[in-house]
Amino acid sequence: MIKNFILKIKKKEFSVCIIGLGYVGLPLASRLLKKKIKLFGIDTDSKKINLLRKGKSYIQSSDQSITKYFKKNPNNLSTNYEIVSKCDVIIVCLPTPLKPNSTKPDMSFVFNCAKNLKRFIKDNHVVILESTVYPGATREFGNKIIKKNFNLGKNLFLGYSPERENPGDKNFSYKSTPKVISGYSDNCKIIIKNIYNLFVKRTVLVNKIEEAELSKLLENLYRAVNIGLVNEMKIICNKLGIDIFNTIDAASTKNFGFQKFLPGPGLGGHCIPIDPFYLSWISKKNGYEPKFIKLAGIINSQIPNWTIKQLHKIIKIKKKTKILLLGVAYKKNTDDDRESPSFEFIKILNKKKIKYDYCDPYFPKLRKGRNVSKIKYSIKLTKQNLKNYDATILLTDHSNFDYDLIANNSKIILDTRGKFKSTKFKDNLNIIYS
Ligand SMILES: NC(=O)c1ccc[n+]([C@@H]2O[C@H](COP(=O)([O-])OP(=O)(O)OC[C@H]3O[C@@H](n4cnc5c(N)ncnc54)[C@H](O)[C@@H]3O)[C@@H](O)[C@H]2O)c1
Repeated sequence: MIKNFILKIKKKEFSVCIIGLGYVGLPLASRLLKKKIKLFGIDTDSKKINLLRKGKSYIQSSDQSITKYFKKNPNNLSTNYEIVSKCDVIIVCLPTPLKPNSTKPDMSFVFNCAKNLKRFIKDNHVVILESTVYPGATREFGNKIIKKNFNLGKNLFLGYSPERENPGDKNFSYKSTPKVISGYSDNCKIIIKNIYNLFVKRTVLVNKIEEAELSKLLENLYRAVNIGLVNEMKIICNKLGIDIFNTIDAASTKNFGFQKFLPGPGLGGHCIPIDPFYLSWISKKNGYEPKFIKLAGIINSQIPNWTIKQLHKIIKIKKKTKILLLGVAYKKNTDDDRESPSFEFIKILNKKKIKYDYCDPYFPKLRKGRNVSKIKYSIKLTKQNLKNYDATILLTDHSNFDYDLIANNSKIILDTRGKFKSTKFKDNLNIIYS
């Protein structure tokens, strides 16, 4: 049976259902489509399903081929799990956030999905989890799917492959980035390797599922800790009167043992601020309280407050003071504002009763909530508008901001990204790096 199935995979005579068509699931669908693999998709958000059926996308960077495909094949999309019975392979790309007001993993999306899958699972289905999870979670997920007469690794194949998607990075591709894969049994590993080999140039087969799960957490923790380190260096440099960006540039010339990380306004996104808690939760549960994770979290989360303190040092805050925030996306060139530090800045400004506006081409408006008291619209970047603000804080260094216009018309700029560091702006005395 395995040999036949692998032959079918190699000939692309199989179909895939992606569960969760978000920032990870939709690009994955595009990759599979490019390889001419028959696709289905499930998302419980009916608005998303309806948009895709109309050939529209809710993710600006998604490519048109996938929306065209779903417009042509509207029945391949559903909010209902029933369609998994039409597919051979199921890839799960569901959110793994933290529980509300807590630092504990919220696995409810993934485990509810397992409950739903259980109703429609059939012999020889392949189920692969791509969500970021703590070590051991994929096995828990697998055990929640199996029903009587099913045997994991024998007639139900389970695997885990962490996603490395880098939203906003046009150069990201699995032609140059390897993908870690793992499987419950040897048969699972062979099947999963053959599936990913179709659209990933280099797969890295890891012996145990838990190693693959932990490798993803290590990757993100590595970023969180190193960003914490450069953010702390930024505070130290400020005290010493030394330029942090020139310092990092100098250190980066070492061609071994050093990787460049840049300071910023704080951590954002669905991964870096969240995933370290997945690791600390499982570690604490097993009797060890991690130190690095906690410290990096403390340093990164104090940056918005520290930046506003710098603002206080350079301008006198009056009743009429008005600040312009540039960027609400957590990262440049994306329409993703999850966990964005910009909302922390808004919270601090509100608390201090300092008025603010914002500009972000990816977010024409901000809905009420997340520290935004009433609906707000992105302002237009014009000479006159920029001159109206006492200070401009650059939070997200989108490529489509007009940096010459900003530099030449803002009274004061607090640059949290080092975007103005080029020699072009060296004579602009209104730019402060913080
Ligand atoms: N966004 C990234 O850059 C990135 C990168 C690497 C890994 N990850 C990980 O990948 C996973 C998915 O992240 P994402 O950014 O794509 O999330 P997302 O929120 O963009 O997408 C998840 C989708 O799942 C849908 N959904 C929720 N519950 C569902 C259910 N029970 N059944 C079907 N659909 C459901 C949501 O409507 C949403 O469209 C997370 O574990 C994340 O940590 C994300």
